[in-house]
Amino acid sequence: MKSDQFPFMLPSPLEKLNFEGCDLWIKRDDLIHPVVSGNKWRKLQGFFQMLGTKEPITTFGGAFSNHLPAAAFAAKYFGHPIMGVVRGEELDATSNGLLAYCHSQGMILEFISRSAYRSLRKQGWIGYEGRLLPEGGAGLHALEGCGEIWKELVHDPDHLVLASGTGTTVLGILAAMPYLCKTRIHVISAVKGALKERAKVEQQASLKQIVLHWEDEVHFGGFGKWSPALIENAEMFEQATGIPLEPNYNAKVWAYLQRTNLEGKVVWIHTGGVRF
Ligand SMILES: Cc1ncc(COP(=O)(O)O)c(C=O)c1O
Repeated sequence: MKSDQFPFMLPSPLEKLNFEGCDLWIKRDDLIHPVVSGNKWRKLQGFFQMLGTKEPITTFGGAFSNHLPAAAFAAKYFGHPIMGVVRGEELDATSNGLLAYCHSQGMILEFISRSAYRSLRKQGWIGYEGRLLPEGGAGLHALEGCGEIWKELVHDPDHLVLASGTGTTVLGILAAMPYLCKTRIHVISAVKGALKERAKVEQQASLKQIVLHWEDEVHFGGFGKWSPALIENAEMFEQATGIPLEPNYNAKVWAYLQRTNLEGKVVWIHTGGVRF
């Protein structure tokens, strides 16, 4: 699939994995689109649907955020001018492949200091022109979009396993799940000690009386950190299955699955990720 092709592959396919540990399936949200990959389109779809013609957008992100290129691609495709406010005043459009890609899609990049970025986050992403799309594409539209992941599953699995950063994806899934659902959720946090996110997700699960395990020990040192063994393991997985795993999120989910005994049908949500 070429990155200039729409529509996306939706519903995303559910594929069986040959794994001795359990009856393991993988929901290939990574196939939704090469750039607007995985949970990115789940989060952005509703946002783009509510925009007026050519309405300008301002969005926000770190220099390694997969959200920025996804938003840049989608804005160009749907004909909206877009500005990306990036954390790090020392950077420019040539600092990495991801920022260069955003620039190539026509995103206007503004680089601001970490402290200015922190206050923007604290104030709720205000002070810029156009429709504001929060960091990571978060918002009600994102929760609804991520709920589609659950709705696309034909049978309830015994276990649902997925990576987490801000917790938006799992919150959307939980919102779409029925009260007292028997599926157990396993959340693999890519961020070490994400206490606020964890509390919110656990609260939502307990309101619905859904059993949820928050895994805070398979982060390999925290967000953006990994070991050579983790990479080697992900590469072996890719060689065996043809399914790529980026190290921040899904490689860590794979490491979790290998070290955990789960009984019954297990569905791993491959939340995508792009290597620039
Ligand atoms: C590939 C990938 N997987 C998982 C996540 C975590 O998603 P969330 O922040 O919704 O928990 C992200 C971050 O958006 C991501 O880029």
